[in-house]
Amino acid sequence: MTALATEGEIASALQPLYVTLASNDIDAIFTLHLAATRAVGRPDLIKAESRDFFERILAGSGRAIGVVRDDALIAYGILQLDLPLSEDARPLLGLKRADRLAKLAGASVLPSAWGSGLHGALIDRRIVEARNLGIPHLYSTAAPGNTRSWGNLITAGFSIRGIIEKYGGHLRYLLYRDLSAGAPGEGNGMWCAAADIARQRLLIAGGFAGTGWRRRADGGRDIYYREQA
Ligand SMILES: CC(C)(COP(=O)(O)OP(=O)(O)OC[C@H]1O[C@@H](n2cnc3c(N)ncnc32)[C@H](O)[C@@H]1OP(=O)(O)O)[C@@H](O)C(=O)NCCC(=O)NCCS
Repeated sequence: MTALATEGEIASALQPLYVTLASNDIDAIFTLHLAATRAVGRPDLIKAESRDFFERILAGSGRAIGVVRDDALIAYGILQLDLPLSEDARPLLGLKRADRLAKLAGASVLPSAWGSGLHGALIDRRIVEARNLGIPHLYSTAAPGNTRSWGNLITAGFSIRGIIEKYGGHLRYLLYRDLSAGAPGEGNGMWCAAADIARQRLLIAGGFAGTGWRRRADGGRDIYYREQA
């Protein structure tokens, strides 16, 4: 008879294995990107990346963190360090040219692993990576219709600072986190339906930022807009 595994052994066997991906992982990353985006089936909600984009990240213009299960890549998250002019959000965020900014530039989870919290875990890992690299400013974009994407970013401390058009005219939330800032203050706030883009634009123009979210009974979501100090 074999000895039963201890609780610690079971916990470590269930822990996902996080790895830094390298150039020889390009096929696995690109295949996963295609599988996850096809499973969603909404090209207006997710930017289709080229193989070339991932090659440049793996060659050093960013970092790619992966999750491996049974020797297969089941999730990845990209941290883009070198930002071309089109991705340099410093002017939109009111940052100076000297401010170091990186972008959380996409993540995919194998559909069979959806709902396990891997996306949130990969956001946290990329925040740690940025801190280790001494980069205090992080941003990302997410389609208002990609609720999982922006919901997990807000849960990780990002806030909606703008609503912009990107990637050929598609609406995107501009989400930002200042890693040097403490917990948000107690400014006035209010809930707003996530579907009400016009009202959110007014709130942002009035100095509010989207800092929280909740599910509604009808299946929709609300976003909490808090006045910024
Ligand atoms: C967005 C994405 C990264 C989220 O990854 P994840 O690790 O599954 O995230 P979570 O664990 O937080 O789960 C998110 C949702 O998946 C749902 N889910 C779980 N299993 C599911 C399944 N089999 N089918 C459909 N949805 C499922 C969860 O219930 C949760 O939905 P809810 O927020 O309505 O409750 C993933 O869906 C994905 O790869 N999408 C395609 C690429 C993409 O949109 N990337 C983000 C923008 S670049």
